[in-house]
Amino acid sequence: MTSNGPGIKQVTREGDRMNARLAGRRILITGAASGMGREIARLFAGEGAQLGLLDVNEASLSAVSSELGAFGHACDVTDRSQVNLVVADVARAIGGLDGVVNAAGILDIVPFADLDPASWDRMLAVNVTGPFNILKAALPFLLAAEAATIVNIASVSALMPMPGTTGYSASKAALSMFTKSLALDLGPGIRANTICPGVIKTQMTRYLWENPEHSDRAADRVALKRLGEVQDVARAALFFTTEDSGFTTGTQLPVDGGFSWR
Ligand SMILES: NC(=O)c1ccc[n+]([C@@H]2O[C@H](COP(=O)([O-])OP(=O)(O)OC[C@H]3O[C@@H](n4cnc5c(N)ncnc54)[C@H](O)[C@@H]3O)[C@@H](O)[C@H]2O)c1
Repeated sequence: MTSNGPGIKQVTREGDRMNARLAGRRILITGAASGMGREIARLFAGEGAQLGLLDVNEASLSAVSSELGAFGHACDVTDRSQVNLVVADVARAIGGLDGVVNAAGILDIVPFADLDPASWDRMLAVNVTGPFNILKAALPFLLAAEAATIVNIASVSALMPMPGTTGYSASKAALSMFTKSLALDLGPGIRANTICPGVIKTQMTRYLWENPEHSDRAADRVALKRLGEVQDVARAALFFTTEDSGFTTGTQLPVDGGFSWR
């Protein structure tokens, strides 16, 4: 466990405090040790949120939690009994939950003929059952909140087929439809939306963007002619977590530079 305890010290600068868009909101973020989850945590902390950060990577999570003065807790989202304990712990530490962002995920790109059944099982477990476990455990707290939000990070792979992604695409399409169904079941008190990122420069896609040739080719495929940055996704997550999106639920928003609409 990595924890700075419930005495949350937010990094909100004094001058920003009055305009903080998440002041008083208590948000749990999974996959917070890296990439999009970490950037969402940074943006939300700057907007005055009280954060509970989860990740299976304890060392990296500890660094992010210390940086943000947030409550961090090591957790494998596929381990249902651990999730139940950890989510309750987080809610106790930050005084409840107004929102959840499920960013933890894994990617294995393998042609179907070579796809190991264990890899299929693991992608479904982390990418779909993980958010299910987290939200089941968080639900009593979200129901007790005034107006709660759920943001699930899927992928353009939920929207369009790509080679070698049978397992990943199936998991992300399932996550997106899960989220739409959640929006119906949990409204009006809780809104639930999905973000579908295109290629975003994180650890997960390092194999691609570190190679200039692959990177250029990937950028050339999209209307905006660049790969995505974690900030692009974090800003979308902020939109779905504030009243700016107060009449929006059950949607899936591509943040992909114009990759999936064609
Ligand atoms: N990077 C992209 O181009 C891209 C595109 C579309 C969708 N996504 C999705 O965005 C989300 C964030 O990915 P990222 O690019 O920031 O990747 P990342 O690898 O930088 O971060 C993913 C984080 O999830 C954590 N994680 C993995 N398995 C876990 C588990 N069982 N329990 C708890 N934490 C676990 C990892 O430790 C890591 O910190 C993922 O769901 C991913 O599938 C990424």
